[in-house]
Amino acid sequence: MKFSFFFLLLLPYTIFVISESNYKFCISQTRTIGRSCQAVQKGNSQIVCVPATDSADCALKFQRKEVDFAIFSAEDALLVSKFINDDVRIIGELRNQDWINETFAFQTVVVVKETYIGGFQSLQSSNYCHPGFGDGQFWTDRVLKQFEATVVPHYCNGILTTVEQEITSLAHFFKSACRPGQWSLDDFVDKNLKKNFPSLCSLCDSPGRCAYSEEFQNSHKEALACLTENGGDVTYVSLQHVKEYFGLIPGFRAKAPAEKYKFLCSDATSQSLGKPCTWINQSWPLVVALKLRKSFPLEIIVAHFSL
Ligand SMILES: *[C@@H]1O[C@H](CO)[C@@H](O)[C@H](O)[C@H]1NC(C)=O
Ligand SMILES: *[C@@H]1O[C@H](CO)[C@@H](O)[C@H](O)[C@H]1NC(C)=O
Repeated sequence: MKFSFFFLLLLPYTIFVISESNYKFCISQTRTIGRSCQAVQKGNSQIVCVPATDSADCALKFQRKEVDFAIFSAEDALLVSKFINDDVRIIGELRNQDWINETFAFQTVVVVKETYIGGFQSLQSSNYCHPGFGDGQFWTDRVLKQFEATVVPHYCNGILTTVEQEITSLAHFFKSACRPGQWSLDDFVDKNLKKNFPSLCSLCDSPGRCAYSEEFQNSHKEALACLTENGGDVTYVSLQHVKEYFGLIPGFRAKAPAEKYKFLCSDATSQSLGKPCTWINQSWPLVVALKLRKSFPLEIIVAHFSL
């Protein structure tokens, strides 16, 4: 997905003035962003990535004027704002070109069948479709787990690790699921969990790989297909994809009848697909820059950043 800048201030967007020195781009070590960093540094890009352990570290580097610009998630920007002083300003939001007029980067929703009787208890022993974890997924773990964290009772067992408790809780709660991708960053742990809890992959097109057929081409559409075609009862996806999938916006043909499904809201009530209730409204990432530098090589960043 190509992203473009939506300017909060009217900045000229045509010619990028080549300056003498390089632009130091603070980047925290997350997987997807890490790859983009290698891409922006190629050739004569004038951009040098400065690795940071996390966004707070980037904020400190700003304070010491060791970096010229950075991209922060809206959540991180709030957290680090206390470090950032008058030398720094927000120069734009990183918005997806296709969704440039959307107020939010995405909104999360839960979709169930129209026949769903309501409440959260009825989700017990249901079939769950999730868009998945790991590379290619631009939602953070917090966002990806928001629905589960709300509805699934936490299984407590002191001898299990956090991820083992989490997966055990899910496997006890749902009858079957497709929850693709990496559950643990440790491959050995991940493999073992997949072996011990096959029900959490049994709704997938490829249960052995715990993956949908078009691996992460568009995992939200795959999760919706899991709901409407693979026997799923509930899915947690982005609102935009629901609108496209059910043909609720111009230019999209319905892949399933909207009247057979509804939204399950975070207060356990439900609403028709024409009347969304969102679980999370996620703001766009912010581009923050040191005031001292006048021009920024925006085109290069735009060309290489996908979230
Ligand atoms: C966004 O809004 C502008 C102005 O209203 C319009 O010209 C443009 O086509 C819209 N872009 C998209 C992708 O909807
Ligand atoms: C998200 O934004 C919509 C407006 O588009 C608002 O109606 C809704 O209450 C917000 N939801 C949350 C969870 O903040």
